[in-house]
Amino acid sequence: MNKILKKTQFSEKVFCLEVEAPLIARSCRPGHFIIVRVDKDSERVPYTIAKSDPLKGTLTLVVQEVGLSSTKLCQLNVGDQVQDIVGPLGNASKIEKHGTVVCAGGGIGIAAILPILTALKQAGNRVVSVLAGRTKNLVIMVDDVKKYSDEVIIMTDDGSYGEKGVVTVGVEEVIKREHVDKVLAIGPPVMMKFTSLLAHKYGIPNDVSLNTIMVDGTGMCGACRLTIGGKTKFVCIDGPEFDGDLVDWDEMMKRMGTFKGVEKEEMEHYEQ
Ligand code: FES
Repeated sequence: MNKILKKTQFSEKVFCLEVEAPLIARSCRPGHFIIVRVDKDSERVPYTIAKSDPLKGTLTLVVQEVGLSSTKLCQLNVGDQVQDIVGPLGNASKIEKHGTVVCAGGGIGIAAILPILTALKQAGNRVVSVLAGRTKNLVIMVDDVKKYSDEVIIMTDDGSYGEKGVVTVGVEEVIKREHVDKVLAIGPPVMMKFTSLLAHKYGIPNDVSLNTIMVDGTGMCGACRLTIGGKTKFVCIDGPEFDGDLVDWDEMMKRMGTFKGVEKEEMEHYEQ
């Protein structure tokens, strides 16, 4: 069991939880993820690690209520316990000195990109972060990102914070004014797809961190399989980061929608 030590509400459906997980906190590296089972009846859901504190033995997760399990997790309070957390899973990000890296984070993808951009900055890169959300309160952890970025550009669909427009507008602004060696995008699939296509248009290597449906997270069930560069890959053990130019985005989008109907039914049942 893993106890919740701190809970902050970022917006109506987005919460930040600090949870006890000393072994994972000591061994995780940027890019790793975990799988959480809120209670013994819940499904196993992957979450990225926004921060880890090896001394306190804690992980910070940013969770958005999208289905039954994430809603149950967001309803827990300080002192409550999570049934189990497995991790660290996946491959850590390859942190290298590229030169100038544009880190594009959309919505709760900002929490996922935070440890990676921190490591990229510490490795000597110039980090330009482009953070995006539909509206102001969906652009999260800005102060944390600022600490490890040379520049932060904020984009909102409604113009309530930073510039009005989608993430690709901000990314293209940077690409047009200076040399960019690498683009990293983490966020909703559609945001990653168009950021990757934009980088590709300018011939810039780009990586994305895929957030497919997962069950075991250890390469056994096949739930996370995707076609990458014409080959079947498992996001949990081969990823989660991949070269964006190689991702079959149509398949990714289709697979993400596979369980929408079941999720809706489960939610309705739970709310009754
Ligand atoms: Fe089961 Fe990846 S989650 S194989």
